[in-house]
Amino acid sequence: MKKLKIIETLTLSTLLSVSLIAQEKTADDLVKSMKKADITYAQLMQGMGMAKNNIDMGIISMNEFLVERGINLIRTHPAPKQKPWYIMAEEDREGFKSMLVYYDKKMDEDVEAIEKAVHKKDWMKALEASQELSNSCISCHMIYKDKVQYVMK
Ligand code: HEC
Repeated sequence: MKKLKIIETLTLSTLLSVSLIAQEKTADDLVKSMKKADITYAQLMQGMGMAKNNIDMGIISMNEFLVERGINLIRTHPAPKQKPWYIMAEEDREGFKSMLVYYDKKMDEDVEAIEKAVHKKDWMKALEASQELSNSCISCHMIYKDKVQYVMK
């Protein structure tokens, strides 16, 4: 019984560290897969804000072109000049990396739902899908926006 517990604990900790390493790699891979721009993380976020405005104004004014503009920016946004986790304190970097990986995928799914609704000219559904995107933005901000320690130069 005791032996089994030890094996269980060992397996669990191995699995955990493997998935941690995998995640770390993924955040690095994610950033490497992106085009780099000469902007800070905050400047990238200003772009995300503009994209969200385009999406929301586009939905309200039933302007498919404007919505697509915003969606496109979210899908193809560049990486900032330094690794995004550079702005966080050492102890927050791993957590922030996981958020980056998770929300990059989640926001792609959110904009896809918006796009599908817009293609059907279902503006109410597009609005709901955009609310889901807002949830993604806010979820990360609630945990990390006030944890920023460093400014990219
Ligand atoms: C993975 C986490 C994360 C996600 C997801 C995220 N943000 Fe941010 N955002 C941040 C952090 C961290 C800051 C603070 C940056 C700083 O102060 O340097 C920030 C700041 C901002 C700012 C303020 C920029 C400034 O000039 O200070 C805006 C606007 C913004 N985000 C918009 C958005 C929008 C819109 C979305 C969703 C479409 C979004 N963000 C998704 C982490 C995130």
